[in-house]
Amino acid sequence: MKTKLVIFGITGDLSTRKLIPALSQIIETGNFEDLSIIGVSRRQPDQFQLLGEHHEQLNGTTTIFSMDLTQASEYVRLKEYIELGDDEQAIFYLSVPPESMAQIVELLGQAGLNTPNVKLMLEKPFGTDLTSAHEMIDHVAAYYQESQIYRIDHYLAKEMSQNIVAFRGGNALFDHVWSAQAIEKIEVVAYEQIGIEGRADFYEQTGALRDVLQGHLMQLLSLILMDIPHDFDWSEAATYRAQALADVRPADPAKSQRGQYASYRDEVKNPSSMTETFVRLELESTDPRWEGVPLILATGKGLNEKTTEVRVHFRKSHEAQTNCLTFRIQPSEGVEIDLFVKKPGYDREFETKTLSFEYDKNTRLPDAYEQVIVDAIASRKSLFAGSAEVLRAWEIVKPVQDRWKTRSDDLIRYDSGANPVNIA
Ligand code: BG6
Repeated sequence: MKTKLVIFGITGDLSTRKLIPALSQIIETGNFEDLSIIGVSRRQPDQFQLLGEHHEQLNGTTTIFSMDLTQASEYVRLKEYIELGDDEQAIFYLSVPPESMAQIVELLGQAGLNTPNVKLMLEKPFGTDLTSAHEMIDHVAAYYQESQIYRIDHYLAKEMSQNIVAFRGGNALFDHVWSAQAIEKIEVVAYEQIGIEGRADFYEQTGALRDVLQGHLMQLLSLILMDIPHDFDWSEAATYRAQALADVRPADPAKSQRGQYASYRDEVKNPSSMTETFVRLELESTDPRWEGVPLILATGKGLNEKTTEVRVHFRKSHEAQTNCLTFRIQPSEGVEIDLFVKKPGYDREFETKTLSFEYDKNTRLPDAYEQVIVDAIASRKSLFAGSAEVLRAWEIVKPVQDRWKTRSDDLIRYDSGANPVNIA
């Protein structure tokens, strides 16, 4: 089926860093001859500059449509420009600031650009708290069916996130021990060395809890906790993830920490900023399968390492034995298990070694943004966030958000390059 991918925000940072390179890769496969790209922009950018090094791959399939995003009549003009045939589909990709999203959705809907052959791809953040997320979901639902909505959380589409499901579901060895009986603690961490990189306005209003923990880390947690029955059907993945989060209790603020790296206030030019660049929560699940297992979620910027991983710590059966299974998402993707082995030699000495799986160096791992675009074209929804899981994730973090509004004495200032373990 011919697809017209209409990108709002084609000149934005995400488009330059992720979407244009992803589209270039997709076109290069030669499997998407029926794809055309329409970049929507307020001004008429230079197409050559916009596509940069991907000009050669994308120039033939890309056109730019410039319009005023606030005028209803402009959407009628857009509709005429797109000229969507009955045997074609249009995907509206909204990579725009949250404050513009509601209006664009409304004006698209009012212009009749919401027929069943239209899909909507939405970039996070999906609201800033439970109330605004509800409002946003209801607002979009006034114009589009849930089946037409593709909410992107690019962490779900990372190769290793998908591999968590394959690894758990495909290996009986782990299936048998996947519960509190054998597992002592689960940690999901995303640590970055970089700071806010010029995104001062965005970050000052967002902070680490909303930017990364509520979405990306909650999604990874749900992949670890969710049921994977033997007849697991990927098309039901969002339902399984939502069920796993439904069992996670709303966070206890007493088991949360927030921090801010030292130069942050200068960067955002706000000497009294309380925005957190680091957050750690300890959660728990009411599912008997996970009873008593601390679920630790932590993320931050300005730290001493770039590490995104899920660590599953197995219970010791005696003091000398400790096993940790790590799903490593960054810096390089892989799976590792710490094992206790005999040290080679005449003596009966033991040591810890790592059994690891890494992708072959020659294997190209598709970027998460390639995956989401390909899946949206093919109407596969398993890697997109459903409304239930988005709302539940906001419910879980709500007590912490509420507490932070009333306190100012709990923000830990840390030096850039700090070890996250020491922020407490
Ligand atoms: C984005 C956040 O969603 O995810 C950024 O807005 C963060 O602040 C980024 O740096 C991390 O993504 P990745 O794929 O580099 O781990």
